[in-house]
Amino acid sequence: MSLRIGILTAGGDCPGLNAVIRAVVRRATSEAALVLGVKNGWLGLIEDDIEPLTRSSVRGILPRGGTILGTSRVNPLESAESLERIDANWKKYGLDALITVGGDGTLRTALDMWRLHDYPIIGVPKTIDNDVGGTDFTFGFDTAVSIVTEAVDRLHSTAESHHRVMVVEVMGRHTGWIAAYGGIAGGADVVLVPEHPFRLSRVCDFVRQRSHEGSAFSIIVVAEDARPVPEENFLTDEERQRIYRHERLGGIGDVLAREIERETGIQTRITKLGYVQRGGTPTAFDRVLATRFGVKAFEMAVGREWGQMAAIRGNRVVSVPLEEAVASIKQLDEEIYHVAEIFFG
Ligand code: F6P
Repeated sequence: MSLRIGILTAGGDCPGLNAVIRAVVRRATSEAALVLGVKNGWLGLIEDDIEPLTRSSVRGILPRGGTILGTSRVNPLESAESLERIDANWKKYGLDALITVGGDGTLRTALDMWRLHDYPIIGVPKTIDNDVGGTDFTFGFDTAVSIVTEAVDRLHSTAESHHRVMVVEVMGRHTGWIAAYGGIAGGADVVLVPEHPFRLSRVCDFVRQRSHEGSAFSIIVVAEDARPVPEENFLTDEERQRIYRHERLGGIGDVLAREIERETGIQTRITKLGYVQRGGTPTAFDRVLATRFGVKAFEMAVGREWGQMAAIRGNRVVSVPLEEAVASIKQLDEEIYHVAEIFFG
């Protein structure tokens, strides 16, 4: 009997999800396996929203952003009723395996569904934040970095014309991968990341120094979870609570811009890139990585490598335990931060 493999995408979307779905379906076709698309993350398995994916249903989706399957943050482990319904639908569709494509929350759920409830699950890591352990890169990250790079390039010309400081707030959750890569690629003057609490006085000194040296403009890239050193905390309690909410970060750029203008007297503007970083077509790098992950995930399902995840190490796509993915958030590489810092001061 041929294999019946479910696939779902869960958590925040990111460019490259469709490339994974397409790759799984195309690889499955050559084995005469059936791929069943589960809609809106785990919700599709709870609500019986599942449909077969064929070569024709994945035609033309490679360059498309988002996910044709839809996504949600529904956690099946939160209710016994959800688990019962998943069990019933799993049997109804005769699934042999489930490929779950997601970030650390989704991968943690996948691990628990396998470990606690014995579901045969394979993980595929995705996130623009590049913060999943066990893999050097996640797809979506390169696309987000390209978007930040283009924004920083564009901000240079308007900053220079107006002699302004431009603060650019970028995503990344609790890590500075997007900020550091985007900042280095765009030639930002300052890069602020969660891994290294910043000193406002140092940022302002740097902006003033540039101004004295004839560059009356500066570009500052700040990650959404970057924080000032405790002794220089200029945030009000209300601001701190609003900016650093675990479920939705954002807003440090506004406060930083206000403080830089107040301290230096130089006009300062804020650009918050937000969800633009997650939308649209994936870069070539992300398309290739996502396609390789999709092919690998299918082959791992054939090999019954349950509780494992497709990952990239160096330039090899490998299978690693899901435990590695969720053990801890993968923080920004110190070597990358060191490179970014060379251009700061
Ligand atoms: O994890 C990807 C990400 O885009 C983060 O960078 C950001 O903090 C978060 O998702 C926003 O998530 P939501 O879609 O829940 O607003």
